[in-house]
Amino acid sequence: MTNRDMPKHIAIVMDGNGRWAERRGLNRLNGHKEGIDAARRVVEACIKKGIDTLSLFAFSSENWRRPPSEVQFLMTLLVTSINSERASLFENGVRVSVIGDREPFSIDLKEAIRNIENKTRECDRMHLVLAVNYGGKWEIARAAKLIAEQVVDGSLLPEEINEGFFDEFMQLSPDSSPDLFIRAGGEHRLSNYYLWQMAYTELYFVDCLWPDFHENHLTDAITSYSNRQRRFGGLLGDDGVLC
Ligand code: IPE
Ligand code: IPE
Ligand code: MG
Repeated sequence: MTNRDMPKHIAIVMDGNGRWAERRGLNRLNGHKEGIDAARRVVEACIKKGIDTLSLFAFSSENWRRPPSEVQFLMTLLVTSINSERASLFENGVRVSVIGDREPFSIDLKEAIRNIENKTRECDRMHLVLAVNYGGKWEIARAAKLIAEQVVDGSLLPEEINEGFFDEFMQLSPDSSPDLFIRAGGEHRLSNYYLWQMAYTELYFVDCLWPDFHENHLTDAITSYSNRQRRFGGLLGDDGVLC
């Protein structure tokens, strides 16, 4: 008995832009530009397939370690892409949320994020979660700090802290952990994406570099997902239902 269902939430690490460009004798930055087209394609494909939530990892907490010129280019590309995609995402019924630490962003980027979140707030066809300056470790440490503050001010007892309580302090709503994780670019690692939320996520890795990622890769990943058994530590009965 396999899972058969479609994943409700797909999370993607869009990796391989730099290598895509270098293999063509181009500057890495060309790969990032091309990666925007792949992101648009995957958003459209997910809408078509009826996916509830799509999460895209756009910039990690660790990506600041890159040369300043690449970081600057990525930040500017984010501003222009968020602004230029806003109208069509709205028309397609996509609610956009951005997760991660916004504190170091430019005024332009903060404003672009605020505008797209406000404009698409009521959209309900699909939820697109962009992770920008996001890291799973950052998110967990942030939750621990917020919880500790409640203990210090006397509104919370340490024995009241449990997994469900922790969930409330994470960036995604508690019931929306990814069902399927896809990483393009050939690396087999999480690179600090959704560490808390991916405890039972199905993992899928594909060699194709992100700018070459098309709907067929997404379809293959979903087919692989549908053929798996998810047991969450339990057992499946003869009827295929968790018992
Ligand atoms: C992913 O592509 C985009 C970001 C991390 C922002 P990379 O830039 O990591 O491309 P590779 O892995 O070096 O090819
Ligand atoms: C992961 O890719 C982050 C994003 C795609 C935004 P990286 O290229 O930063 O990951 P590592 O360094 O290969 O682990
Ligand atoms: Mg990379």
